[in-house]
Amino acid sequence: MSSPLFIAIIEAMSDIPARLKSGPWMLDPTITYLNHGSFGARTVEVFEAQQRYKREFERSPIDFLDRRRSLINESRQIVAQFVGADPEGFGFVDNATTGVGCVIHSLHLDKGDEILTTNHVYNGVRQLLKHHCTSKSLLYRELDIPLPVFSSDEIIQHIHEGITDQTKLLVIDHVASASSIIFPVEEIAKICRKKGILILIDGAHVPGMLDLNIDELAPDWYVANLHKWVCAPIGTAFVWTSEKFRSITHPMTVSHWLHQGYTEEFDWQGTRDISPWLAAVDAIRVGEHIGWENIREYNHQLVTWMHEELVTAWGVEPLSPIDGSMLGSMATVLLPNGCPQTLEDCIEMRDEMYSNNALEVSIFEFQGKGMLRVSAQLYTKKQDISRLLEAIEQIDTPK
Ligand SMILES: Cc1ncc(COP(=O)(O)O)c(C=O)c1O
Repeated sequence: MSSPLFIAIIEAMSDIPARLKSGPWMLDPTITYLNHGSFGARTVEVFEAQQRYKREFERSPIDFLDRRRSLINESRQIVAQFVGADPEGFGFVDNATTGVGCVIHSLHLDKGDEILTTNHVYNGVRQLLKHHCTSKSLLYRELDIPLPVFSSDEIIQHIHEGITDQTKLLVIDHVASASSIIFPVEEIAKICRKKGILILIDGAHVPGMLDLNIDELAPDWYVANLHKWVCAPIGTAFVWTSEKFRSITHPMTVSHWLHQGYTEEFDWQGTRDISPWLAAVDAIRVGEHIGWENIREYNHQLVTWMHEELVTAWGVEPLSPIDGSMLGSMATVLLPNGCPQTLEDCIEMRDEMYSNNALEVSIFEFQGKGMLRVSAQLYTKKQDISRLLEAIEQIDTPK
């Protein structure tokens, strides 16, 4: 059952979805879209802002990309401020995976040194880390953090105990993709500092979802996407580097500006379309009209309510506290009895829900069980959960 407080907050803010649902999003309104977490979604305003930058470039390419190169700098100042980061350590990249790649390829560890992460790591990043470790004769290890997780202390304990003398770098998710759990990165960064371990925080989901202040967190590196919860154009992400490592951290594509400054190197990664990076500012401004605090609070309260509705309806054990205290704007729930448990069957179920019910939701296998992840964004309505429950009920072939 949803608490009266959640309902009160959702009702009080109920004008927001009405205002934003009727056209301002690029999404097809006939689809019940519950997977904002994967690729985000754009408002029409941001989409059009990006088109304007593209047109400006095409009208006078040299002027736009060469003489007016400071456009990226202006964007960087605003976006860096939004995430509480020193702009001098802020470099735009295409996506979070590339951001992690920049850090990993810049680091020179010795044979036998260990890169440590957890089994909540995003699979693309897992493959990147494993591949790098294999090719450089480094050790790769994942700490097992089994679900359910009911407190940050449990995670801190695992990390504390898991670091060994061989560990040189910890790669830790800020909001984990599969479990939706917020990791206590502030405490984890402190542990790393104390033990002399480098820390790279993968905050792919964080900007726009949580209040972020990278300078206060003070990791060695912080990587994040803006195309998820800031709703910036696809191809907008960043890698932030602490002062100590700016001279050795390079973009994946090294070009003209090598060793001429961190931001200079990241600003020019060969000829490319910079419109997503510029339109990130428009996305931040769109959110500012509503208030980022309001957006975060609305999404969080709604997803907490959705989480409780699903757990109650399906009679499954929650994977994180039911009060939503370890969730941002996404929640992961065990699939009810009779639903798929393997990745292949989960994908089939996801695709069937899309084709039969026009409903997009993330369904996958994690830690040996079939799970479903819902996202809440301003366009999400409480009725979307009723549609999801109906769609699941229609599945008549238990696997
Ligand atoms: C925690 C985490 N890291 C990295 C990524 C990869 O993001 P991208 O595909 O934009 O590189 C994701 C994507 O969902 C993610 O959830």
